Amino acid sequence: MSSSAPDRGQWSSQIGFVLAAAGSAVGLGNIWRFPYSAGQNGGGAFVLVYLLCVVALGLPVMLLEVSLGRATQKNPVGAIRAFRPGGGWPALGYLAIVTGVGILSYYAVVAGQVLAVFIDSTQKIFSGQSHLHTLGPGGILLCFAAFLLLTLLVVVGGVQRGIERWAKLLMPLLLLVMLAIIARGLLLPGAMEGVRWLVTPDFSKITLGVVLDAMAQAFFSLSLGMGAMLTYGSYLSRRQNLVQCASWVVASDTAVAILAGFMIFPAVFALGQQPDAGPNLIFKVLPAVFNGMPGGEVIGALFFFLLSVAALTSTVSLLEVVSAFFIDELGWSRRRTVWSAAAVTFVVGIPAALAWVSVSPWSTVRVLGRTGLFDLMDFLFTNLSLPIGALLLCVFASRVWGLGRASDEVLSSSPRFSSVAAIWRFFVRWVCPLFIAVILLTRFLPVG
Ligand code: TRP
Repeated sequence: MSSSAPDRGQWSSQIGFVLAAAGSAVGLGNIWRFPYSAGQNGGGAFVLVYLLCVVALGLPVMLLEVSLGRATQKNPVGAIRAFRPGGGWPALGYLAIVTGVGILSYYAVVAGQVLAVFIDSTQKIFSGQSHLHTLGPGGILLCFAAFLLLTLLVVVGGVQRGIERWAKLLMPLLLLVMLAIIARGLLLPGAMEGVRWLVTPDFSKITLGVVLDAMAQAFFSLSLGMGAMLTYGSYLSRRQNLVQCASWVVASDTAVAILAGFMIFPAVFALGQQPDAGPNLIFKVLPAVFNGMPGGEVIGALFFFLLSVAALTSTVSLLEVVSAFFIDELGWSRRRTVWSAAAVTFVVGIPAALAWVSVSPWSTVRVLGRTGLFDLMDFLFTNLSLPIGALLLCVFASRVWGLGRASDEVLSSSPRFSSVAAIWRFFVRWVCPLFIAVILLTRFLPVG
């Protein structure tokens, strides 16, 4: 299939790409997952390791994915086949597709919960009553399905009409509302303890487990390791500056994660809650913040609305990867692809949804040291699959694509990159793959 296939698209401009890619990156990963991972991993120490991972692994891999996408103008499987049609390498592309469905299937469950909180908070404004406590298995499945449906409708609209328009409009608004919530949180008595906890690294807390979690969180938050940025890069034109694109996406995503930390933890400490409460952290803490805030009901509703949109621009990118594969490689129509992928995702996500609302036995099974299917899926697809995907992509780039060709692709539209190209190649060839491999191996093989 050529890049001019009818159901392929292109961004209207560089800023269109940056907003859509930042829309993919910024989502529940920043606002829901980052705070609870930091909370479980000791605060400041985790934040420090996270920032190091973003710079040393995230930025190089981001540039690599985007440039491989633009060079080939293809989906993850097609991009690999463009250089190595046979052999084992296309399996890396298939891993990306499977991971996309896997992450989407539990991500949309949490997004459905966010949607439910939003709907409930508007009802509270109008009728003064909250019904959220009744969100049982049926309710969560309904919200999960509704969220998948929303995602599907955007993706059916195609890249430019569907994805770009949403991202442009609402992402800046989310930032404003977050700043208002941060200001409120910082005014609560006792909030400074949370700030201190977030900015002072306690080095004794840094274990291999913390490093793996921080690394996985960096890939997850930046949408790396499963070809989402590769696919978005494939809709970029030859003129657009890849270094600028990659840097903007990384910087804005990281800024939102850090802001989310400042939104949650001062309030956690001020309200006497536990930072290590786990995946439910933001759903416990934020409503309490809104409760005591002037205009809190409206701000709360607005926040959960914008968070739903941020989650939507992320789920859209997950579904888009899967769709690009079927459209490019199998010649399916966009409509047929998107409906089938969403249906499969729904079925895969049912156990995670039931585990999310603590319905036994899904929430109590113990596998691989994880309790509950929700945690298990998060662990398999995020902590394992994303780092492995990023690792193999680096190896693919240095052994098959060739780092010379890779830097030529970047240089063709960013001439000033020549001063740092050698450093980038060194990171892609050595630093990223070795670091990821060592962390994964020492964490999972009982060495020593
Ligand atoms: N980055 C998104 C977030 O932080 C989630 C996401 C979207 C993602 N696309 C992805 C994660 C691709 C990994 C891979 O919420």
